[in-house]
Amino acid sequence: MDNIIISPSILSADFANLEREIKSVEEAGADWLHIDVMDGHFVPNITIGVPVVKSIKKITKLPLDVHLMIDDPKFYVKPFVEAGADIITFHYEACEDTYKEVISYIKSFGIKAGMSIKPKTSHLRFVDELPNSELDLFLIMTVEPGFGGQEFIHYTSMKIPEIRKIAKPELIIQVDGGINNATSKICTSLGANSLVAGSYIFKNPDRVQAIKSLRD
Ligand code: DX5
Ligand code: ZN
Repeated sequence: MDNIIISPSILSADFANLEREIKSVEEAGADWLHIDVMDGHFVPNITIGVPVVKSIKKITKLPLDVHLMIDDPKFYVKPFVEAGADIITFHYEACEDTYKEVISYIKSFGIKAGMSIKPKTSHLRFVDELPNSELDLFLIMTVEPGFGGQEFIHYTSMKIPEIRKIAKPELIIQVDGGINNATSKICTSLGANSLVAGSYIFKNPDRVQAIKSLRD
């Protein structure tokens, strides 16, 4: 696929030098910046909140791709929009009964709306509605959300072509977790067009090469 959107996840960056880390991936050709927000409830880890996103917004031109791994995502949409989020992706599992409302609410701020499913959640329940959905991005988790540096779960990639087949052509299909220069090829050949990578990019001293190897 053409135009692969590379979104480095700062979860694996050196937080003591966050500005330098972000500039390094910006200069190395990243398209977006992936920010993992975890609340210690939806996932067993706590990471970044609104004030950090607000500070990041001031030091980068990259669109901020905010991945909410939190309960009650609707409550936090507005604060993250005000902090500078350009894309907000929430988890279907966090609001199964109200997910359509959450999508519309994110869209009402004029930004991109994304929805994510965990590895064990089936994509088949969205088959009927996806062709007409206002969703901009569908994030297929390729690891259990919560931590960077985990191994790619292969069966999750089989969801990609099935979603690509039914969705409107402009839907961005993003994958997140265990993405490296090998698993990226599996995902893009199946129809994914946005790759999130944390440890593969930030643990690589040559970030230009790391990003290039994901894109090529
Ligand atoms: C995991 C996060 C990911 C994580 C990916 O819950 O959503 O964005 O940073 O890390 P890697 O690329 O190291 O698997
Ligand atoms: Zn993520």
